[in-house]
Amino acid sequence: MNFLNAMVNLSNNFETFLKDAENAALTFKSLKPHRVRLVSHLDADGISSSAILVKMLNKEGILYNLSIVQKINTTLLNVVKKDSSEVVIFSDLGSGNLEEIKETLKDKKAVFILDHHEIELDNLELPSNIFLVNPHKQGIDGNSEISGSGVSYWFSYFVNDSNKELAYLAIIGAIGDIQENNGFIGLNEIIKQHAIQSGKLIEKPGLKIYGSHSRPLHKLLEYSTDPYIPGVSGSESNAIQFLKRLNIPLQNKDGSWKKFVDLSEDEKKRLISGLVMLLANTRDDPEQIIGPVYEITEEPLSSQLRDAREFATFLNACGRLGKASIGIAVCLNNERLKKRSNQVLLDYKKEIIRMMRWFRANQDNPEYVIRGNNYLIVNGKENIRHTMIGTFASILSKSLNTEDDLMILTLAQIPEENLIKASLRSTKENSNLKEIIQQISERLGINEFGGHKNAAGAFVPIEKEEQFLEHAQRVLSLMAIEEKID
Ligand code: C5P
Ligand code: C5P
Ligand code: ZN
Repeated sequence: MNFLNAMVNLSNNFETFLKDAENAALTFKSLKPHRVRLVSHLDADGISSSAILVKMLNKEGILYNLSIVQKINTTLLNVVKKDSSEVVIFSDLGSGNLEEIKETLKDKKAVFILDHHEIELDNLELPSNIFLVNPHKQGIDGNSEISGSGVSYWFSYFVNDSNKELAYLAIIGAIGDIQENNGFIGLNEIIKQHAIQSGKLIEKPGLKIYGSHSRPLHKLLEYSTDPYIPGVSGSESNAIQFLKRLNIPLQNKDGSWKKFVDLSEDEKKRLISGLVMLLANTRDDPEQIIGPVYEITEEPLSSQLRDAREFATFLNACGRLGKASIGIAVCLNNERLKKRSNQVLLDYKKEIIRMMRWFRANQDNPEYVIRGNNYLIVNGKENIRHTMIGTFASILSKSLNTEDDLMILTLAQIPEENLIKASLRSTKENSNLKEIIQQISERLGINEFGGHKNAAGAFVPIEKEEQFLEHAQRVLSLMAIEEKID
């Protein structure tokens, strides 16, 4: 692994992790499987992971069946158990289901779990056919230093180093999982260097407000909630006035709306200093609007998939709307399906608008909304897609105009599984949401929960809905008391 040492000073943990990925990859190669079953998660990271693995399998001439799922369940494992695949690969999931995987898939030649979610490290004894590649085993933080597509990338890289050309997909996956924060750290940083070296990714300083490549400038400013631009966000006419004051025309010479990427260098400078001045009066750090942006070189400059953040949003939209295969095909450069990416993004936007309208119409209806001093619970029942309930909670946590520290718990039904999907987010970053969901779940004997400090979720059997809501209110209000004592 000299090539890596030459680039960055690798910690022992990184070396051990990469050795683990390499061993798994060499075992995979030596098995020469005829057919593989791939199982991956439905978010942007899961879709990028499966695109990386599909490309690797195509190159090796190995056949595959692919399942993109919100979670692993017994039905799925039984299907996998009985199918004709000799080898199974789980990506961006699996670490939370080790016991069931071990038991159900014991007759498979090999099962590879390429994941970055937390694992119970005590009692991690695995049978010889199970290979778990997970950064937490080496004490590496899987929430910020590497994503599921990052783990899938290293595995594929060690199968064949020409797969270095896929590193940019792992960067899109990491961005999808909110692992980019003014740059990358840890193993993500090495992956980013691979992506740049292979000519697929460009990193440059730019405006970090979402939509530089896709939104007309005045719309980009109007819609910006992160950061919230005082006097501009939320008002199209104020956004237009602001641009006029800066002497930035709204339209290009051909009459089309100007996007950020269409501005001259001089106009970009004027816009950025204008924004910094507005943000200087807020609690937000004005510099946060400037930072690294990442471009996918294969995408034309005018494409909304050019910006890696917008690409990640597109993949997320595909997964949440049940169109993961379009996302994977686009990652594999299918030009025909690329043309459909606009429509998927429009449908996603419509679905978000529909959810927010439903919330506004029902926010005072106790059948759906429970308000506490420090929490808001929204039980969407069948009115919100269960695949969108996490997105709904995230949007509420960012858009509620509140000075308070609110925890937001959202629920939606998965009728076909007799389950409820719960998501927990917070308007400020000062509680550990994973611990809170754990407290609520464990008391009720619910074992399908997980997440991290800033985002957590659970699957609740439908018959425990009432109990879950009651206990959640108790745990969430206790948090307020604990914080006051702190
Ligand atoms: O799989 P998990 O980490 O994949 O979930 C990612 C989701 O968690 C994102 O869609 C985002 O909504 C949320 N999240 C967040 N803030 C963070 C990290 C994740 O809101 N710092
Ligand atoms: O689904 P949602 O976006 O709310 O999930 C937030 C975080 O919690 C994600 O990182 C997700 O992977 C994790 N999670 C989990 N186990 C669950 C539900 C969510 O690990 N049963
Ligand atoms: Zn992930």
